[in-house]
Amino acid sequence: MSDLKPDLLTYFRQLSEEEPVLILNRTLSPETEVNNENVIRLSVLESKVQHCTLCELAKTRLNVVFGTGDPQARILFIGEAPGADEDRQGEPFVGRAGKLLNRILKAMNLERHQVYIANILKCRPPGNRDPNPDEAAACLPYLTQQIEFIQPDVIIALGKVAALKLLDMPPNTPVKSLRGRIFDYLGHPFVVTYHPAALLRNPGFKAPLWEDMQMVMKLLAGEIEWKPDSEQTLL
Ligand code: URA
Repeated sequence: MSDLKPDLLTYFRQLSEEEPVLILNRTLSPETEVNNENVIRLSVLESKVQHCTLCELAKTRLNVVFGTGDPQARILFIGEAPGADEDRQGEPFVGRAGKLLNRILKAMNLERHQVYIANILKCRPPGNRDPNPDEAAACLPYLTQQIEFIQPDVIIALGKVAALKLLDMPPNTPVKSLRGRIFDYLGHPFVVTYHPAALLRNPGFKAPLWEDMQMVMKLLAGEIEWKPDSEQTLL
């Protein structure tokens, strides 16, 4: 990460006028029991997915990369698919893009364990090629169940593959055209931003990504009102 100048965190801190403060702990309510059951369901699902053979990627993977973080997180990040580092370690976003994601989280006053991080695919496509439609179709029900059990207050699609797959948009749709909008995905607010790997290639995406994260923080703080089945354009 030493090649990233200026340091992203400092950069983000300079961009925001004040330290972002996020209330992350859900308040205890009668729903607590349901939440606890969902934590167990998520863990049962994880055990099941570890043995998945629904697509050809099962033959080449080293590890299934189910997802990581707080099973009751308010924020769910969704990336594309594990790369070589993730395949080796069995955890999403642990390589260069992941280190940058950690710094983005820090700039939001968050740690990895306070959010949940998953991918469209749970297994690495050889050579890091894009997920093919069959693989994505086989894997998507796992993600849908993760969303059902986590019940996040916001879902953030990191990059084109996650955004277009989940919003069912044509392949030539630019990420830029989806930013600044709050979509509905399975009843949850759904926001699109650039993939951290795209930021590594193009530092010009840093400021728009930070703008997107500020929108997310306002949404979580209740400063932006959102209703299911609606789509809002804010930026
Ligand atoms: N890129 C992704 O989209 N997901 C990962 O887990 C790692 C890199």
